[in-house]
Amino acid sequence: MRQMRIWVSGARGKLGAEVCRQLIGAGHEVIEADLTGPEPVDLMDREAVARSLRGADAIVHCAGIASPENIEPVRLFELNTITTFNALEEAWKQGIRTAVLASSGSIYGTAWSPDEIGTPDVPIDENTELRYVDPYALTKDVLERMGQTYARRGVQVTALRFHWILTPDEVRRYIADAPPEDNRRNLWGYVDLGEAARACTLSLQPRPHNRFATLVIAAEDTGRYEPTADLLSHYSPNTKLHTALTGTASLFNTRQAANLIHWTHQSTWRTH
Ligand SMILES: NC(=O)c1ccc[n+]([C@@H]2O[C@H](COP(=O)([O-])OP(=O)(O)OC[C@H]3O[C@@H](n4cnc5c(N)ncnc54)[C@H](O)[C@@H]3O)[C@@H](O)[C@H]2O)c1
Repeated sequence: MRQMRIWVSGARGKLGAEVCRQLIGAGHEVIEADLTGPEPVDLMDREAVARSLRGADAIVHCAGIASPENIEPVRLFELNTITTFNALEEAWKQGIRTAVLASSGSIYGTAWSPDEIGTPDVPIDENTELRYVDPYALTKDVLERMGQTYARRGVQVTALRFHWILTPDEVRRYIADAPPEDNRRNLWGYVDLGEAARACTLSLQPRPHNRFATLVIAAEDTGRYEPTADLLSHYSPNTKLHTALTGTASLFNTRQAANLIHWTHQSTWRTH
């Protein structure tokens, strides 16, 4: 990929910081846009966004509220949608035609629904029906629709549906060593932080087709030691399994990411 100047929002956050590290490591120039840091940029402020975008070739939009806990739904909705709108609209006005957006696996609705909505079918892929009832998932659907809008105007937009972004130690702490029921709603899945950031950098490559894409981004395995089929039959017996599963295989299908951006999850917490 040619050397680019890439605007990264949420650059001081968990994902954004890793994206910046990888981009700088690959010889790109990074423009940080975050509420914190030496030159803060509030993405709610359209003019500040426009100023910070000057000279950028592409955007990776990671700023936002990453969890609906401890925030009023209206504020969550306002922050996640307006920050995304300002990023896309101001980038479009400046002629930037490549955008990567942080969507979420929470868009399937199981993670944050007030009452459990269950998962009827696995593996989950980009064609899985969106059945969410919670505001956080709604903000991610709005983010994807906004991306689609700007793709129709000529921007290459990749919205990445990240599963829970964790380091290997965090997988052990939050999934492997926790009671299995705790992560039933998430189907015991995760994506490694470095792999999630790599999906962002790969999405910057120009594509001749599929100007707009949403991609499931998850590990090839679960965060558990038990065979996945056993976990499903014990903890989610009503979920229909549509594929043969071996060992600790993940219940998320990432074939589309492999085909479109040549991303596969290459590491596992088990060997770290
Ligand atoms: N962490 C996960 O497991 C996970 C999973 C799926 C999707 N995502 C999505 O990925 C993105 C990044 O998540 P994260 O875990 O790095 O979150 P994070 O909370 O670590 O980082 C978010 C960053 O956005 C910045 N920010 C928030 N509002 C801003 C504003 N108005 N202007 C400028 N900057 C602002 C914050 O200062 C922070 O540095 C989010 O959109 C989140 O919804 C995260």
